[in-house]
Amino acid sequence: MRAAVMRANDAPLTIEDVKIDSPGPGEVLLETAASGICHSDLTVIEGGLPFPPPCILGHEPSGIVEEVGAGVTDFAPGDHVIGCINRWCGVCRFCTEGRPYLCETAYLGRPEDQGPRLTAADGSPIAQFANLSSFAEKMLCPERSLVKIRDDMPLDRAALIGCGVTTGLGAALHTVNIRAGSSVVIIGLGGVGLSALQGARIVGAGQIIAVDTQEWKFETAKLMGATHCVDASDGDPVAAVHELTGGGADFVFECIGLVPTVEQAVAMTGRGGTSVLVGVVPITQTVAISAADLTLQEKKITGSLMGSNRFRFDMPKYVEFYLDGRLKLDEMISARVKLDDVNDALDKMKKGEVARQVIVYD
Ligand code: APR
Ligand code: ZN
Ligand code: ZN
Repeated sequence: MRAAVMRANDAPLTIEDVKIDSPGPGEVLLETAASGICHSDLTVIEGGLPFPPPCILGHEPSGIVEEVGAGVTDFAPGDHVIGCINRWCGVCRFCTEGRPYLCETAYLGRPEDQGPRLTAADGSPIAQFANLSSFAEKMLCPERSLVKIRDDMPLDRAALIGCGVTTGLGAALHTVNIRAGSSVVIIGLGGVGLSALQGARIVGAGQIIAVDTQEWKFETAKLMGATHCVDASDGDPVAAVHELTGGGADFVFECIGLVPTVEQAVAMTGRGGTSVLVGVVPITQTVAISAADLTLQEKKITGSLMGSNRFRFDMPKYVEFYLDGRLKLDEMISARVKLDDVNDALDKMKKGEVARQVIVYD
């Protein structure tokens, strides 16, 4: 099969012929249907999230089951599925208390005696990213990284649910409890931010203020439920939010992962409000926060990991949200591209020229 391989950090991915193994116990072989290109793929390429090359990125996939391994009971050939970077063991304390997205088995790969799932033409192993590696024509995944969805859900839009939509929508629906009428700010209107924004609308938020540096994103944001838009490239966005909300918002979602915008998020949060950190700041960087500001105004800060998901339950529900018109995904896709165009697509994302791009496989 053909795949885009990361051979080194900060270099273009190379399109190569890669061998994929047959499914072992508990594994499922998929024909990849589509893969969203997520900002975290770029973060790995740039070294902000450590993952050693050679590897195949891509972690926002949909696919069709081709073959299942021994003991797989939840899937059969022909099933339409979404893949998720989380997987769960079912027995650890996080799984049993209902927070499987915190399960620490998430990235455990294949047992060593089974050999690698992915191999280069010269026989050397290629690492699989998050048990998925969807920048490839096929995927070999643990069954617990997958969820079956309705056959009538278009697979290119289903792919978006695999990471960005679940991360953003889940942050608004699960990580915090937004009450109807609450004021909400979304900083960063990529796939993740636009999904958090829609989550705020779905739960009945009052003011929904969309913040970005790219003015062209505001049209989409309004279509998805933004009541106000703030251009962060023009003046102080913190002052603008304080003005609009009369002193700060009830909930502020940082959906980029930059130190300055995390600081802005906390500053935009009002008395008794909550800052929700959704974007992943590179692990080498730290953020300065005034502790007294938190105490004296009882502000809260929380991280949100992958939308606090229970994806086997959430993703089919998000599919229903799309099919009943509540979740807008068509408008989120800026372009459908081929695997060969992946480097160009990553460049466009780096420049902030696109909402979501999806690789569609034949
Ligand atoms: N202020 C406001 N908006 C900004 C700023 C800024 N200083 N800098 C960038 N942005 C906007 C960009 O214009 C873009 O619209 O943030 C948005 C980021 O979108 P994408 O790059 O498409 O990122 P996305 O895939 O949505 O992921 C966001 O979430 O999953 C996490 O950490 C991961 O970096 C990822 C983040
Ligand atoms: Zn992602
Ligand atoms: Zn577990």
